Amino acid sequence: MPKDWSGSGVDLHLDPDTAGGRRTGLERALRAAIRTGRLAPGDTVPSTRALAAQLRLSRGTVTAAYDQLAAEGYLTTVPGSGTRVAETAQPAPTGPPSPPGTGEPVHDLLPGRPDLSAFPARAWLRSTRRVLAAAPPEAYALGDPRGRPELRAALAGYLGRARGVHADPDRIVITSGYAQSLGLLAEVLAGSGTTAIAMEEPGHPFHREVVRRHCLKIVPLPVDDLGARAGPLGRAGAAVLTPAHQYPTGATLHPDRRRALTARARATGATIIEDDYDGEFRYDRHPVGALQGTAPGHVVYAGTASKTLAPALRLAWLVLPAHLVEPVAEAKRLADAHTQSLGQLVLADLIGTHAYDRHVRASRLRYRRRRDLLAGTLRDRVPHVRVQGIAAGLHALVLLPDGGPGEAAILERAATRGLALMPLRDHWQNPSGRPQGFVIGYSTPLAAAYRPALDALCSVL
Ligand SMILES: Cc1ncc(COP(=O)(O)O)c(C=O)c1O
Repeated sequence: MPKDWSGSGVDLHLDPDTAGGRRTGLERALRAAIRTGRLAPGDTVPSTRALAAQLRLSRGTVTAAYDQLAAEGYLTTVPGSGTRVAETAQPAPTGPPSPPGTGEPVHDLLPGRPDLSAFPARAWLRSTRRVLAAAPPEAYALGDPRGRPELRAALAGYLGRARGVHADPDRIVITSGYAQSLGLLAEVLAGSGTTAIAMEEPGHPFHREVVRRHCLKIVPLPVDDLGARAGPLGRAGAAVLTPAHQYPTGATLHPDRRRALTARARATGATIIEDDYDGEFRYDRHPVGALQGTAPGHVVYAGTASKTLAPALRLAWLVLPAHLVEPVAEAKRLADAHTQSLGQLVLADLIGTHAYDRHVRASRLRYRRRRDLLAGTLRDRVPHVRVQGIAAGLHALVLLPDGGPGEAAILERAATRGLALMPLRDHWQNPSGRPQGFVIGYSTPLAAAYRPALDALCSVL
């Protein structure tokens, strides 16, 4: 049963060692209390005022220590009920890891999600308050299937500024996730006579399924270190690309390939769908601008809040060439009328107040540190694997050497340590004879769980 220290009158006994500074000492003492289980997941910690008085520290020092522990995933702030120990902040394991097949993995390095403990809950709450205070009654009625005008206007500004997208609010359609965006586009393309779509090989297996559901044939678009090759686009009416950070290899589409692909789309009338799922996260230089900016009449830009904020929001957007706006909006209307409005209004406020930019900037710094730790740790401890695709995004591809244990053997070892890993083999239409490796999602573990997950990875590799 979680304890409520603030209301029970029971003081949390902490004895911070202030040798390295008061704040650092307090952080260390709190981390230790959580790791040893003295503070359990769900417990409310004392208010900053109470703890400051008890330890004779300034309230600012206690607030800064709480903020740091929240950023590391140990604490979480629940609006209206104070700061608690995060449900996911586990005490350090004292026994052996769970045997394979029993329960949740202890360590999760699957790709596909950001650090959920870093969701900007305070900023989201502030925006929600403003939105609810100001929303006119019509905000609660059914509206334009393209989505709220406030969000389309905010996105047009943001995408033009941050991603080099040629964006006009009238050509934006808000959707409930990239998966829906892709489904709507596949439906519209199939309805207008397209029979085949070129998709990167290797690529996202789920997105292949979405396209197949609309009875479209998939033409493999081979990927090398320069990204996808342009040739096969001639055999398909459309192509799906991840130019900023190819999923899963991590390659950035080379400028010559960008030119070749857009030239081919112009020449053949093919549509390119640009999946810009993690384009904001580039670490070695400025993010590479969107392909759409160079050919807005032929490229559909597809963005999502799943990596910058959280996948459960189900908020994504399409910037469409003029001829696709009406058919995609109609497909969206028939699918679900429109994406729910309140979330759209909150995101519009978050972008309009630049809280979104600030969150993306802070996230970039945090993920860059994680990426550096992953690359450095593997270089030192498992030098026989090759790490690639780490200039951007939230995942790295770790390739296994020929002749050593393959994906299957390593997955077995990982299961015994409770480590969830994504093998590369799932990303090929035909995996036989392909290189073997793992797609490592380094943003997935909560902050406090990252180093133990890397240790587990090194030991199974
Ligand atoms: C390649 C790729 N595209 C797009 C997405 C975002 O999908 P959604 O917006 O449906 O959450 C993901 C998420 O994992 C992804 O891996």
